[in-house]
Amino acid sequence: MTNDQRSSLIRLACEARTNAHAPYSKFLVGAALLTESGEIVCGCNVENASYGLTICAERVAFGTAVAAGHRHFQALAIATSGGHPPCGACRQFAAEFCDDLPILLIDSDRPDHVSENNLRELLPGRFEFPQPM
Ligand code: THU
Repeated sequence: MTNDQRSSLIRLACEARTNAHAPYSKFLVGAALLTESGEIVCGCNVENASYGLTICAERVAFGTAVAAGHRHFQALAIATSGGHPPCGACRQFAAEFCDDLPILLIDSDRPDHVSENNLRELLPGRFEFPQPM
């Protein structure tokens, strides 16, 4: 990932966060995913009156990217107030496509404050579909 791509990811994750539909939790999340080919695909959390139907920003981003034909990714940026890490479901969702993945956690209140993680560290013991014998 180049410095320009990193800056764009951070900016676009913050922008996507402002589109979150989170009238119940009021917790806005934006995600920006850098594809292997250098495109950036975004997502935000989309809540529902039937709470359990809510979908996280990260899974919206992965689903949108996959629907556009992307299967390989260079990095994921997540913007929240406080710079929180992704939930377990989103870690497993990312692991479907990425052996490892740099994950930038952005505090949207201080977008210059970015902590860098990676998927391997955040998700030890991922579930992998058992291969038939
Ligand atoms: N949320 C995400 O978008 N990503 C995560 O990784 C954790 C949680 C959303 C779901 C819900 O709309 C709100 O944050 C509070 O849980």
